[in-house]
Amino acid sequence: MTVADNSANSGPAPASSSAPAPAPAPAPAPEEVGAMYDRFGDLLAMVLGRSALHVGMFVPHGERTAAASLLDLSDLAQDRQTAYLADILADGLPPDPRLLDIGCGTGGPALHLARRTGGRVTGITVSQEQLARCGERLNAAAGLEGRVDFTYGNVMRLDHADDTYDAAWSIDCFPHLSDRPAGLREARRVLRPGGRLLMTEFARRGTAVPPETEAFTRLWASPPPTPFAALLEEVEEAGFRIARIQNMTANIALCGELMHVLYQEQRDAIEQRFGKEAVAHTDPLMEPFRTFCRDHVDYYLLLLGKPEN
Ligand SMILES: C[S@@+](CC[C@H](N)C(=O)[O-])C[C@H]1O[C@@H](n2cnc3c(N)ncnc32)[C@H](O)[C@@H]1O
Repeated sequence: MTVADNSANSGPAPASSSAPAPAPAPAPAPEEVGAMYDRFGDLLAMVLGRSALHVGMFVPHGERTAAASLLDLSDLAQDRQTAYLADILADGLPPDPRLLDIGCGTGGPALHLARRTGGRVTGITVSQEQLARCGERLNAAAGLEGRVDFTYGNVMRLDHADDTYDAAWSIDCFPHLSDRPAGLREARRVLRPGGRLLMTEFARRGTAVPPETEAFTRLWASPPPTPFAALLEEVEEAGFRIARIQNMTANIALCGELMHVLYQEQRDAIEQRFGKEAVAHTDPLMEPFRTFCRDHVDYYLLLLGKPEN
């Protein structure tokens, strides 16, 4: 969630404005995305949940939860989503698999993946602050000695050798990329033949008004989501076979609602911690962010395979 004002047209235009739409802000560079997480990662945890930094699974099937607050519910939803994705990736792995977590956040999902699969996990992120948090989580975790490491890395230019990993996952990281095809190509390159990439990605549905798109791209430090068809083309151009697609859109809609409520509820605490300037910038973005998530963002899981040869 970015609160830095890095654009000339800083305030969102009113939805009914007849003025020409401002040009969309350029896609953020990895360094800018990393700086956003360094500075505002904790703010994001206050409104998105503390277990991870991804969309939660708010709509479980046939299950009751014991959440006592909205933030607890968010934590539970994130844990459920992490576990669900780990189950998918774990299926069919070889013994002692080597795994890559692309955009590892604060490390919780990577630790879960290592436990779930018994494999060795490398997590990469563009945020130094997140790396420090990953280290803390790893130190506090028992039984994972030597099986998990975290390092700085940009998926659009990986320095890992070809054919290194049995599988990779990337949970809610690809929305940040200024060059998604490069990220896909790099992910494919470092997978061994037959290896799999499990990724989640946003897709644009319908036509949003510019203030909604702008609120989303600023708060999420991302380029505007593309239609889903564009993602599918890029996936195929990168040389992946599609093994599974799952629509998880109900979760992003609820996530947007929840972030909105939690932000309003904790606004004073956020102001105290991050300053008046930060909330003055973020306040007007929250409502269009919420309607954009509700009305214009689809959320997909894709399981992709690197062909054997
Ligand atoms: C929404 S967070 C998700 C974090 C984590 N996957 C989780 O589920 O909690 C997005 C993550 O992607 C990382 N990221 C963004 N751009 C990246 C890039 N170019 N290369 C690698 N990681 C990136 C961010 O630093 C952050 O860790």
